[in-house]
Amino acid sequence: MARAFQIRTYGCQMNAHDSEKVANLLHHAGLARAESEAEADLVVVNTCSIREKAEHRLYTDLGLLRLWKAERPGRLIGVGGCVAQQEGDSLLRRYPQVDFAFGTHNLRWVPEMVAAAERGQREARFDDDLSLARFDLPERHGDFRSATPGRAWLTVMEGCDLFCSFCVVPSTRGREISRPAVSILEEARALGESGVRELTLLGQTVNAYGRHDVRRERTAAAGTMAFGDLLAALAQIPGIARLRYTSPHPVFFDDALVRAHAELPQLCPHVHLPVQSGSDRMLAAMRRRYSVREYLAIVAALRRARPDIAITTDVIVGHPGETRADFEATLALVREVGFVDSFSFKYSPRPGTASAELPDAVAADESQARLAELQELQRELTYAAHRARVGTRTAVLVEGASRRGTAGPGGIPLQGRDPQHRVVNFRAPAAEAPALGSLIEIAIVEATPHSMIGSLELEPAAARAARAVDPEARPAA
Ligand code: SAH
Ligand code: SF4
Ligand code: F3S
Repeated sequence: MARAFQIRTYGCQMNAHDSEKVANLLHHAGLARAESEAEADLVVVNTCSIREKAEHRLYTDLGLLRLWKAERPGRLIGVGGCVAQQEGDSLLRRYPQVDFAFGTHNLRWVPEMVAAAERGQREARFDDDLSLARFDLPERHGDFRSATPGRAWLTVMEGCDLFCSFCVVPSTRGREISRPAVSILEEARALGESGVRELTLLGQTVNAYGRHDVRRERTAAAGTMAFGDLLAALAQIPGIARLRYTSPHPVFFDDALVRAHAELPQLCPHVHLPVQSGSDRMLAAMRRRYSVREYLAIVAALRRARPDIAITTDVIVGHPGETRADFEATLALVREVGFVDSFSFKYSPRPGTASAELPDAVAADESQARLAELQELQRELTYAAHRARVGTRTAVLVEGASRRGTAGPGGIPLQGRDPQHRVVNFRAPAAEAPALGSLIEIAIVEATPHSMIGSLELEPAAARAARAVDPEARPAA
């Protein structure tokens, strides 16, 4: 009987949140999270297929897990996520060590499949579930604990209908589907009551939320609404101090969403807006449906609405047909926008995508060189953005132990994120260490290329000294 489980997660936040959902289902079926793999009776691998490297992680894991399974009779292996969806039933045929496999719409069947596996039955569930049922997992609320206290993810839509030429997601996540607002709000309320301060709304193209219903004038029947209205409704929920959403797509960035950034204080001044390329020719080849000019117009509107907004992005280098001139246009765009951060990737051909059929592949060493050049530029921009914040104050949601060095000796090294989603490291006296998941005010005292260093000491010593002699003197900001 499988009693203790472990889940390995690859990929995006949607996948990480799916792993939380699976963990929650397993808890309710009477299983407990194992402290270590040695202790576990069941390992579930939640896979990602976005690039070849991500897919290969599964095959490496399956090799090692075969040995893990042989160590003790009764151990079970389950595989879910985007590679499972892509490979389907063939996983069970090709890998005899796998006991069950499930698709991205089939999380709810995991406890049943575990029970079947315990009886020696190997099952695969890959039903395409176009209903809303997949959002309404039993015992959905309350038990969703993200790794960080005070923070939670909330799925508002799933799937993608855009079929960008390079991307496997429309085939692994299926068609776009939006949850009714009432169930989103109900879940948000429950999370607020349980102490969550920061909510991140999730969707493959999150700001496409409800768009099909808005366009067909059937929001009432579907129970959805425009994305900007959903944000406004969520901002009313007691306890929720911060709202974020990821990832929006530029084509669904409307005036209402820009306005929400001006009007909703809870909406964080950070937008992760994947651009992919700074060349219109490449954007067309990628089927992204916007031009560089249109992208820049969104950035300008966001900055007018919220001058302190941080924009981050995703970029692909070496898509088939990308010339040096196209790549230079990307560098120019990155410089012009001044992204606070970016994730950049070497193009990786994916099964079943349009780009995989294209000629004019860019040589691997050329792609690598472009990636390095872009990342060097981004390092400069990120460092500059961090330096510009020194001397200001910010609010940090305390996440846990600091992973990097912090200024000064003594105290407990902690880290958290500011509203712009930047990591701030700081030290707190052991006796007054803030609770994990709490929001605290911090002064930024130093910048590093990766993060910022803060101090709980909000008044610089010099200002305090000045005030000691002059009661009218104001502390420096
Ligand atoms: N839905 C989001 C992207 C999700 S995938 C959007 O539309 O913006 C996350 C990132 O992975 C993408 O933004 C892209 O930069 C990268 N990516 C996707 N497919 C890729 C591929 N075949 N090769 C390299 N990078 C890829
Ligand atoms: Fe992939 Fe494009 Fe959909 Fe994003 S919008 S998930 S890149 S197909
Ligand atoms: Fe990967 Fe699937 Fe997310 S391919 S990035 S886990 S949607």
